[in-house]
Amino acid sequence: MNKGTILVTGGTGYIGSHTVVELQAAGYEVVIIDNLSNSNENVLDGIEKISGIRPAFIKGDCCDMTILRTLFQAFPGIKGIINFAASKAVGESMEKPVLYYRNNLNTLMNLLDCMAEFGVKGIVFSSSCTVYGEPDENPVTEQAPIKKATSPYGNTKQISEEVITDVINAGAPFKSVILRYFNPVGAHPSAEIGELPNGVPQNLIPYITQTAIGIRKELSVFGNDYPTPDGSCIRDFINVVDLAKAHVKAMDRMLEVPESPKIEIFNLGTGNGVSVLELINTFESATGVKVPYKIVGRRAGDIEKVWGNPSHANEVLGWKADTPLADTMRSAWAWQCKLRERGIM
Ligand code: UD1
Repeated sequence: MNKGTILVTGGTGYIGSHTVVELQAAGYEVVIIDNLSNSNENVLDGIEKISGIRPAFIKGDCCDMTILRTLFQAFPGIKGIINFAASKAVGESMEKPVLYYRNNLNTLMNLLDCMAEFGVKGIVFSSSCTVYGEPDENPVTEQAPIKKATSPYGNTKQISEEVITDVINAGAPFKSVILRYFNPVGAHPSAEIGELPNGVPQNLIPYITQTAIGIRKELSVFGNDYPTPDGSCIRDFINVVDLAKAHVKAMDRMLEVPESPKIEIFNLGTGNGVSVLELINTFESATGVKVPYKIVGRRAGDIEKVWGNPSHANEVLGWKADTPLADTMRSAWAWQCKLRERGIM
């Protein structure tokens, strides 16, 4: 079964690589473009080991329209795009706002131009629960108000959503699905692909696994004085393979359901809020490995609690995040152990 060709920008990255595997399993052919700014070409080996298919790969930057045009000419008939090509570190975006606005927004504009020029039928855009800021109510639905962004990174997500909406409303000849992710965690159960942050991890799970394996001395828990049951922040940790599968559902719907709206927005979360301390406990009991940690002060800009209501995606996409958190923690640990085995970390 060949359902057509999908361009996955940022396809060697963390969520991108897991999505490529699921697209291949669903019968899509995949072309990846990635500038390898935060990933490695050997991710393609991992993808091939899992699916038996090596996706076409172009090393290039989506900010470069010449490269994009050459790509669309070389692979005529690309039906859909999933756009993961973006910078995603909140802290770095405060220091280098121009980099974030240029990279994240120029990529999107170029892709939208190419879609019209080359007859691409739909784009799935990676957005984030960061658009809700500190929500008034949890779990958040897609109707919750968009709060002023607290970082240039968050602002690029808000602006991108607006750009896509304006372009579609102006009568663009394609559709779009915007996916608002909560906190993606874990790795493929094969441990062939996973998250590989550059340098000291900023996000919780890679910090936990690197501490558990002894690369980091101890985890700092940023605050235990929040007005939550155990005082630590609450997030909606969603398994990355579950998340990847939602992209395939979104693409199928956009391309195969003629009456689906020209633009749709979905929360991708589990519907459950889990605190940072609960997550550490779950990791320890699932893996039997201790994570030394200490409580430190709050991290500037952190949201106290946010978790998503995924009903819209459950009903319309027929998708549900159902991997138990303990399995997700085991997958993250297996991936960390694989990196050690390969001498990478
Ligand atoms: C942030 C962004 C999100 C973005 C994601 C990816 C916001 C509000 N959220 O998510 O949009 O997609 O990064 O980069 O901007 N923690 C510790 N110790 C650590 C690391 C984290 O205690 O060493 C805590 C944090 O304080 C937070 C929770 O763990 O409460 C999750 O943090 P993290 O994994 O960085 O993700 P978010 O900040 O939720």
